[in-house]
Amino acid sequence: MRVLLTGGAGYIGSHTLLKLLQEQNEVLVLDNFSNSSMESLRRVKQLANRDFDFRNGDICNSTLMNDTFNAFKPDAVIHFAGLKAVGESNDKPLDYYTHNVTGSVELLRCMRRHGCKQIVFSSSATVYGEADYLPYDEQHPLRPTNPYGRTKYFVEEIIKDWTASWSEASAVLLRYFNPVGAHDSGRIGEDPLSTPNNLVPFISQVAIGRLDKLNVFGSDYDTRDGTGERDYIHVDDLARAHLSAVHFASKNKACEAINVGTGRGATVLEMVKAFERASGRPIPLNMAARRNGDVAKSIADVSKANRLLDWEAIHNIDDMCRSTWNWQSLNPLGYK
Ligand code: NAD
Ligand code: WQD
Repeated sequence: MRVLLTGGAGYIGSHTLLKLLQEQNEVLVLDNFSNSSMESLRRVKQLANRDFDFRNGDICNSTLMNDTFNAFKPDAVIHFAGLKAVGESNDKPLDYYTHNVTGSVELLRCMRRHGCKQIVFSSSATVYGEADYLPYDEQHPLRPTNPYGRTKYFVEEIIKDWTASWSEASAVLLRYFNPVGAHDSGRIGEDPLSTPNNLVPFISQVAIGRLDKLNVFGSDYDTRDGTGERDYIHVDDLARAHLSAVHFASKNKACEAINVGTGRGATVLEMVKAFERASGRPIPLNMAARRNGDVAKSIADVSKANRLLDWEAIHNIDDMCRSTWNWQSLNPLGYK
């Protein structure tokens, strides 16, 4: 298949790109490098031992998007491009609406114009908000609590309307839970440009000595040990889910929202222990106040992914921490 990857130089995009190349798809990556570098693409090319097309540009640039569709003629799009920091989205909501919502509208318009009928969209578990029940299934009410989450919710709705208006179109809205880990080679991984907001990259930078200690945000939640519980999903499993989703979209005229997680939760302290086992290094902790906007638990019901995509996660939290540590220790400064 010919697959256009928006945001393909980023963390999840680069891992998915590698799998698509290994499965002999023709790929074009379009990325503006606002949160990534050319180095990830150079390394994917080495790992795959194959070349692929690439354009440096913004999904909001309609001239560039039209040129790209004209030249590459994709069968499908996997749409990763967007801004993703929850805290930043409270300070700069219009940047989030522009990149995430306007950019997606531009992309869908271009797809329709060029007859490209299939899209897999990077949505997020954050669309659910506070849980009425757990695990979250795809029917759970959607009540995102921050601008970032609302952009994901709005784009899901826009894609539903887009598929409803075009009988040949199909879409899979993948709601990722908490992606972590890195490729086994240690050559590609998550490389936050500034101090990480997310737990595992933060722990990893404590272990390598770039940060002093981990602030544990809240120890009085209603969980096994009082710390927040999440459904962490290995990026390698997540990348596989994209290949299954593209395949599903090529066979089914539908618009399906599908959770991508393991169906199991781990607390902050359990992740810290797993990382200490993986790295052999102690992680100093500071028990801190709850972080604004955090929920106690977030766990996926993954039965729809099992059923429709014939996919399930195979990696556990030890695999996730081992691969993160391998990447971090081989690349103490990330791609720099
Ligand atoms: P990332 O920041 O590593 O990757 C996003 C890529 O998109 C980057 O390479 C960035 O340079 C590019 N980009 C951003 N805006 C662009 C634009 N306007 N035009 C072209 N390129 C642009 O993030 P990631 O972790 O790989 O996430 C990929 C997608 O998955 C995002 O849409 C994110 O919201 C979503 N998601 C991520 C997580 C997570 O925890 N990592 C969880 C749920 C959903
Ligand atoms: C996990 C747990 C924290 C950092 C976020 C986004 C979500 C999605 C995935 C994009 C929580 C605790 C964290 C730290 C800590 N991204 N923690 N100390 O908040 O579940 O989800 O990333 O779509 O939209 O909101 O992930 O990794 O930030 O936090 O104690 O320094 O770790 O309180 O319990 P979260 P996270």
